[in-house]
Amino acid sequence: MRKSVVGALVGILGGLMSQGAAAQQVNIICSVQAEWCNMIATVYAKTTGTKVNMSLKGSGESLAQLIAEKDNPKTDVWFGGTGDPHLQAAEQGLSLEYKSPSLAQLHLWAQQQAQQSGYKTVGIYSGPLGFGYNTELLAKKKMAVPKTWADLLKPEYKGDIQVANPASSGTAYTMIATLVQLMGEDKAFDYLKGLHKNVSTYTRSGTGPIKAAARGETAISISFVHDGPGEKMQGFPIETITPTDGTGAEIGSMSLIKGARNLDAAKKFYEWALTPSAQEMGAAAKQFQLPSNKNAKLHPSIPDFKKIKFINYDYAKYGASTERRRLITRWEKEVNSLPK
Ligand code: G6P
Repeated sequence: MRKSVVGALVGILGGLMSQGAAAQQVNIICSVQAEWCNMIATVYAKTTGTKVNMSLKGSGESLAQLIAEKDNPKTDVWFGGTGDPHLQAAEQGLSLEYKSPSLAQLHLWAQQQAQQSGYKTVGIYSGPLGFGYNTELLAKKKMAVPKTWADLLKPEYKGDIQVANPASSGTAYTMIATLVQLMGEDKAFDYLKGLHKNVSTYTRSGTGPIKAAARGETAISISFVHDGPGEKMQGFPIETITPTDGTGAEIGSMSLIKGARNLDAAKKFYEWALTPSAQEMGAAAKQFQLPSNKNAKLHPSIPDFKKIKFINYDYAKYGASTERRRLITRWEKEVNSLPK
């Protein structure tokens, strides 16, 4: 008798608790690809009972939304996307200072991203910038695989290169910042003007170009190389390469939003997103960035950073709002406005 009363009480309490948990809600902007965003939303909702409202947006577009809703934030967490706009959000007071107890489990580059922002963002993954190319299309057009940044200026590639627009895409901004650091600013802009002649389209999203290359709509893309294997696994003839003259890498980041309406739920999600098992979901969703948690298992398709020639990317400088805005404006004015 007593047992059954206790049992009933446990049942009622359990019911109340799960109702309590179900009442929690978290609003997330997600800047990785849809499959990964959807996977974390579903798994997190199922395992915690939290209601997850997720919207998908590129890095630059997410920042623009957060600026627009600054006085009345509708977002609790910004998950993923390149690190530079997360640093800009921190500088503009859009994100909240928070020191996760898991910081020590993260790679140094992810911890540095946190330190540099005054703990208003944190690195969740990293990935190298490079080129994607459609092997069948290059063979058909008898074109060589581009191996350096300079190679992309060859007239034979005219109309056969796609890259994203840096105003909406963090990938494209990473490219501009990389070239400026590699060549010096004026030479980098001369380069971008030359590249413009070969570019058929500037896409909104950073992954647009590699998807187009995979599907044979363009021969070459400028892309994060960790986005290649997922396309190849779908059966598309796509390979990636990093330029031998050096390249940059993103520090994909996550930020808690200042004034978040669901701060408690937001912090819980944030902590979960830093765990090894949550970070392994990237590879499960066929996105092969390097996870920031040192204990996350590494999928063999994750690029081997030791084999890539990296520049010493100055994240603080190129994540500063004046610098980011200035470079994007200069690109709009001096490059995007040019006829082809
Ligand atoms: C893809 C990549 C991410 C990157 C993101 C940036 O999802 O896999 O590593 O952070 O693009 O997107 P964006 O549209 O801002 O270039």
